[in-house]
Amino acid sequence: EQARHHHWFIGSIDCGTTSSRFLIFNGEGVPVAGHQIETTNMYPHSGWHEHDPIEMVERVQECIDKATNTFIEQGHIKSEIKAVGVTNQRETTICWDTNTGEPLYNAIVWPDTRTSALVRDLKKKEGADELLQLCGLPLSTYPSSVKFLWMYENIEAVKNAYDEGRLSFGTVDTWLIYKLNGGKDANIHVTDPTNASRTMFMNLHTLQYDNKLLDFFGIKRSQIKLPKIVPSSDVEAYGALASGPLSGVKITGCLGDQSSALVGQCGFQPGQAKNTYGTGCFLLYNVGDEPVISKHGLLATVAYDFGGDRKPIYALEGSIAVAGSGVKFLVNNMGFIKEPSKITELAETVPDNGGVVFVTAFSGLFAPYWIDDAKGTLFGLTQHTQTGHIARATLEATCYQTKAILDAMEQDSGHKLRSLAVDGGMSDSDLTMQTQANITGIPIDRPTMRETTSLGAAIAAGFAIGVWKQFDELSDMSRDGRTIFQPAKMNKKTKTMFKKWEQAVEMSRGWVN
Ligand code: G3P
Repeated sequence: EQARHHHWFIGSIDCGTTSSRFLIFNGEGVPVAGHQIETTNMYPHSGWHEHDPIEMVERVQECIDKATNTFIEQGHIKSEIKAVGVTNQRETTICWDTNTGEPLYNAIVWPDTRTSALVRDLKKKEGADELLQLCGLPLSTYPSSVKFLWMYENIEAVKNAYDEGRLSFGTVDTWLIYKLNGGKDANIHVTDPTNASRTMFMNLHTLQYDNKLLDFFGIKRSQIKLPKIVPSSDVEAYGALASGPLSGVKITGCLGDQSSALVGQCGFQPGQAKNTYGTGCFLLYNVGDEPVISKHGLLATVAYDFGGDRKPIYALEGSIAVAGSGVKFLVNNMGFIKEPSKITELAETVPDNGGVVFVTAFSGLFAPYWIDDAKGTLFGLTQHTQTGHIARATLEATCYQTKAILDAMEQDSGHKLRSLAVDGGMSDSDLTMQTQANITGIPIDRPTMRETTSLGAAIAAGFAIGVWKQFDELSDMSRDGRTIFQPAKMNKKTKTMFKKWEQAVEMSRGWVN
């Protein structure tokens, strides 16, 4: 069996917030070739965040071209790439014209807060308190539903298309798969439950659209084309690449990026958790085959659904809007350092945070607080404060918010996590990971191969075509070479700093534009 699949490779498209990439994995889960391109992030007004949907597709295609070239230069042949998986930033919302297949507006990206007034009104509406039970998400600026409503209310082209029944709605997975299949001619309009669970349109228990949810947002099924929800691993539903060097290769896997990282970390057992420090930072905790609705500010979401006779698996999620984007802020807006990778060096110019706390609430504050009107709040400055202190406080912000999330998870699940698997850009920083261990008091477990998000989509795709058949075959995959950061003994200073963080969180509230 193993020998038969020796020359089988799987491609993985990752369309993230900060970059797009295409990696090619072998059957052992090792990336052998890849290409990555930065995304153009547009912030046209304070709180607004957009991507160009056309650029999204073009950059993904360019990544596929370049990575495939590298693969061929290594002596491989294209036909060894047996399938492709897709993973993506979640919630980001795209509307296009069903008749032309072209976008009607830029993509509104997940951390965008232009909807905060809309959300304030929706919270007062009858039925608002039933939403969480149905879809697992609290009303906030984060899900796709409110992004869509904003477009409908403010963009004439979107309103007209809806009124005339030619509006197609999609998250990034849906849009990309639609376009990569050739757009309106192929007309593949699908999504997987992990992505659909971020829209607020899907019932978490049935994994189907729910009329109660759609009614709440005033959406008529006759006016809008919603993507069909199909399993995350499926050999037919996602079609195939229509052009480029891999034309004809089937797309057989699709997972939202945070679900994908959980799969890539082989977090298949209930009780396992991972934290991905990307643009934002997202902790997913596998709760098994029944959803758990949080009472403490976490989200309930679909972890993955591999289809067939396998039950869908759910997760509790702690979402942090700002992690790597906070570091980027220090680079691009404050000019503290030339590139994000220098952040640890800058932080190490000082022995501690010097009493500085930075609540990086650039998109309001997500889990477990959900303060839509929070703004970035820098607390504890004195004449002693150096850029190094602010760099430390920026890294620590994600670590403190992760601790608050873990506390909430412990309350929801009744268990304390034994260790936390990590990945994503900021997990490269030993200083940050050690700080994370010290603040949470649990070991932080970092794999050497950290392309776990891409690997997850490759696993979903590979499962569909039989590269792997059992989760057991995978469980060793990301086990090779891991670094464990053991927590130092909890001291008074750590406890005091967390109190200060909580105080600063309170101070970040109520900053109306
Ligand atoms: O929910 C948003 C998330 O999917 C974005 O992930 O990797 O861009 O921080 P990332």
